[in-house]
Amino acid sequence: MAINWFPGHMHKARKEIKKVMPQMDLIIEVVDARIPFSSENPLVPALRQDTPVIKVLNKRDLADPGVTRLWLDHLEQENGVRAITLTHNQRAEALDILRLARDMTAHRNLERSALRVMILGIPNVGKSTLINTLAGRPIARTGNEPAVTRAQQIIKLPDNILLYDTPGFLWPKLSPESCGYRLAVTGAIRSAVLEFDDVALFAADYLLVTYPDAVRTRYNLDPLPADGVALMDAIAARRNFYGRGGIPDLHKVAEVLLNELRSGKLGPVSLETPTLVAQETREEQARKTERDIQKAARRRT
Ligand code: G4P
Repeated sequence: MAINWFPGHMHKARKEIKKVMPQMDLIIEVVDARIPFSSENPLVPALRQDTPVIKVLNKRDLADPGVTRLWLDHLEQENGVRAITLTHNQRAEALDILRLARDMTAHRNLERSALRVMILGIPNVGKSTLINTLAGRPIARTGNEPAVTRAQQIIKLPDNILLYDTPGFLWPKLSPESCGYRLAVTGAIRSAVLEFDDVALFAADYLLVTYPDAVRTRYNLDPLPADGVALMDAIAARRNFYGRGGIPDLHKVAEVLLNELRSGKLGPVSLETPTLVAQETREEQARKTERDIQKAARRRT
């Protein structure tokens, strides 16, 4: 899968965050509850130092509640991090984030002064929607086209809180490789930079293993196909998606499968668990070590 993020943008974002971060009292990081690890911004752990963080697992309505509970416990193991869930159109719940922000910084005697809060989130996690909800009026553009650059803005919120909205060119995590696929499954990576059918196949394989009942019910398939390719063929047959010469139209299947998954038509689905991510990270590290060993051996010969 070829995904290109522009090194110039990355460098600029890093520099800006590094400059602004020390002036912040707290960070709100919005992630997608279906992929709390893959949708995390890789710069936050690297640059936050001891600034407290509220992780907002947004789009709770689309995620598997049992898996979300595992993530909340896992994320709060990190010092100075509180994790909560959210879904759109819940203003009272969203405003609780501001109370939590005040609580988490209470020991610093900031009650009377403005609290400076940086809000971060990779594209498409619902950051603009949350900002609008907190402000109680439309502030930032919302929409599903990721990676749109905007200038930083400062938004006045209730309870003397200043929200610093960082520009939208923050890039997502693309390692281990499956993070990229999961981001693509949720729509966080633009379709122009990835192989659409590969992404659907990744989703098909995952759903068969992890949510077989959801697949069985949605596509009325019993017994279930053996793997992702067979599942895509079976959906083509069920929905009568055939091209010229009676060949299954797998691109159309990919489109339908991803759209139905993204809009929650298969029911709540989480795409990663803390255990799965830990295992993939270990495997990725082992592959990197192996590559380094081979490179060193080649240099010696
Ligand atoms: P961003 O600033 O992080 O890029 O995200 P944005 O708020 O633009 O939200 C991206 C899409 O996600 C929007 O849908 C938005 O409505 C949707 N969204 C935000 N929060 C939630 C949530 O809690 N649950 C669900 N299911 N969806 C959420 P869209 O189709 O692109 O736009 P629209 O037609 O809804 O305006």
